[in-house]
Amino acid sequence: MDERYRFESLGGRHLRLRAAFSCGEDALDRYLRERARREMEQRVAAVRVLYDSEEDRLAGYYTLSAIAVERTDLPHEITHRVAKYRVYPATLIGRLAVDQRYQGERLGGRLLLHALDRALATSRDVASVAVITDAKGEEAQSFYEHYGFQRLPTEPYGRRLFLPMGTVERLFTGR
Ligand SMILES: CC(C)(COP(=O)(O)OP(=O)(O)OC[C@H]1O[C@@H](n2cnc3c(N)ncnc32)[C@H](O)[C@@H]1OP(=O)(O)O)[C@@H](O)C(=O)NCCC(=O)NCCS
Repeated sequence: MDERYRFESLGGRHLRLRAAFSCGEDALDRYLRERARREMEQRVAAVRVLYDSEEDRLAGYYTLSAIAVERTDLPHEITHRVAKYRVYPATLIGRLAVDQRYQGERLGGRLLLHALDRALATSRDVASVAVITDAKGEEAQSFYEHYGFQRLPTEPYGRRLFLPMGTVERLFTGR
């Protein structure tokens, strides 16, 4: 990561920058403005922002949370060789967005890889079988599919996609 962009946990110093954030999806802009800070405090979501130190702007953000996924919602490739439980631990990328003025400059890719890296590191202390995400539309879905995410077979919550943690590990370690 170059000097210009820094990943930081959403904190008090970012609050004045939230109003200028615009990714093209109103719900994702409003989440950052109105809910992200509270959800951090409530420990519902860990919010990381990508801070542009040159422009003093927020270029993007993503959220990570621990979730439980029903066995019946997971694909066979994840469940066939693991101990049988009704629910499994997983890591949710709840939201991920890049400000419009930065889109197409590979920052979305950086955000996603940073989220996957954090998810993998955390899973070594608190296990997680997969990274899950809820794509907000066609575009978002194809973005995640570009990185190897697949649709969950049952899709109880709409466009829910997954990437097995083993795949994430191979991505970063080659093993
Ligand atoms: C989707 C989004 C995060 C992509 O961010 P971005 O910074 O424009 O994307 P990048 O420039 O980092 O692209 C990285 C790679 O993904 C690919 N990509 C980007 N958007 C894509 C899409 N919609 N479908 C398929 N591939 C896509 C790029 O071609 C690039 O591929 P490459 O590295 O192989 O060349 C961004 O457009 C955004 O925030 N959109 C609005 C909010 C949203 O839909 N969020 C999604 C999750 S809720």
